[in-house]
Amino acid sequence: MSRTLWNDAQGVPHTIDQRFLPFERREIELRTCADCEAAIREMRVRGAPLIGAVGAWGLALATGADASDDALRKAYERLAATRPTAVNLRWALDRMIRRLAPAPPAQRAALARDEAAAICDEDAACNARIGEHGARLLRVLAEQRSALAGMAGAETAALNLLTHCNAGGLATVEHGTALAVVHRLHEQGVAVHVWVDETRPRNQGALTAWELAGRAIPHTVIVDNAGGLLMMQGRVDAVIVGADRVAANGDVANKIGTYLKALAARDNRVPFYVACPTSTIDVDTVDGASIPIEERDAREVTHVAGRLDAGGIGAGGIDAVRVVPEGSPVANPGFDITPARLVTALVTERGACEPTHAAIAALMRRDAPACGDDRERELERDAHRARAAAAGRQQPDGSHAGPAGAR
Ligand code: MRU
Repeated sequence: MSRTLWNDAQGVPHTIDQRFLPFERREIELRTCADCEAAIREMRVRGAPLIGAVGAWGLALATGADASDDALRKAYERLAATRPTAVNLRWALDRMIRRLAPAPPAQRAALARDEAAAICDEDAACNARIGEHGARLLRVLAEQRSALAGMAGAETAALNLLTHCNAGGLATVEHGTALAVVHRLHEQGVAVHVWVDETRPRNQGALTAWELAGRAIPHTVIVDNAGGLLMMQGRVDAVIVGADRVAANGDVANKIGTYLKALAARDNRVPFYVACPTSTIDVDTVDGASIPIEERDAREVTHVAGRLDAGGIGAGGIDAVRVVPEGSPVANPGFDITPARLVTALVTERGACEPTHAAIAALMRRDAPACGDDRERELERDAHRARAAAAGRQQPDGSHAGPAGAR
């Protein structure tokens, strides 16, 4: 798979303008710090890890233009102010500053480019590992799913996952986070089907669908309100989402609407996984209540953007239509907080971990371990037990005995 952020032969960073996806693939060049700042602010690029990588390149490009302490500080502040919730941006900017500040200004431009490139490479490598670790966890559910299908006389039964927003390759430098797990399962021959939340207001579900379609992974786009019913009907084996910031206590900030999915998952005993690199874990933020929530433009709510249907005026063009009466006030928080108690496990490049203060602190102290340590096996067993409990309500033919709360 190709990267979402890459350098051309002259070393100029390029990316995709995601505002036109999935209808048009337009590439953009990032030649200056201001280009990077605008790309993040206007959501030409999006997704916590990709925002971090573009921020790092922004600082590298700023350093190339003026490597003084004052210029670095100003570039840092401008870039950091673009989007407040995703912590990967601040993480990447801080890492750049730690690398650059001790060096003499004359050496900074080269160092900055190396560091930005390293951040990109590491993001890709981390996400591949997340895919590996997550696939190991979810294969347990897939095997159980197949066993149930076998009992019912069916040949195969896909593992049904539900995801919210886009945590795919587009949200990262490469591979994605939640979708890295899906891709890995698919590569390993596990039959997977993904319920894709459309994710109003910006419909990042369309990006997820586009990515899954590109790999021929079975998926179905649903409106954001459908997930609860599907879980109640036993048609979701696990929820897996990305994250924009995880607090020290395991609370998770992710795209608005994630919390409601976690509540529905808990009520229906469906495991709820959060896949993210450790650069998304912010041990300096004590809990979810301390995470700043980005309030976005009202126009995202009042208007819906899409491609104009064939046959009409402007057919084929991308445009927005108003869906809210003129004058009605709107609110548009971009993210919500899923309390740690609703999260089954965090899946990171260092392995899976319970969303508790102690487990996160231990994870952050660890060097990246090989897949398959004891704690992971324990989490696999937990996931197995969670699913077995849910399966207790499920008939061998896949029909469902009803929601947990209804009995
Ligand atoms: O506002 P966005 O599109 O930048 O939102 C961020 C996200 O893509 C999601 O919240 C995602 O689940 C976390 S980033 C892998």
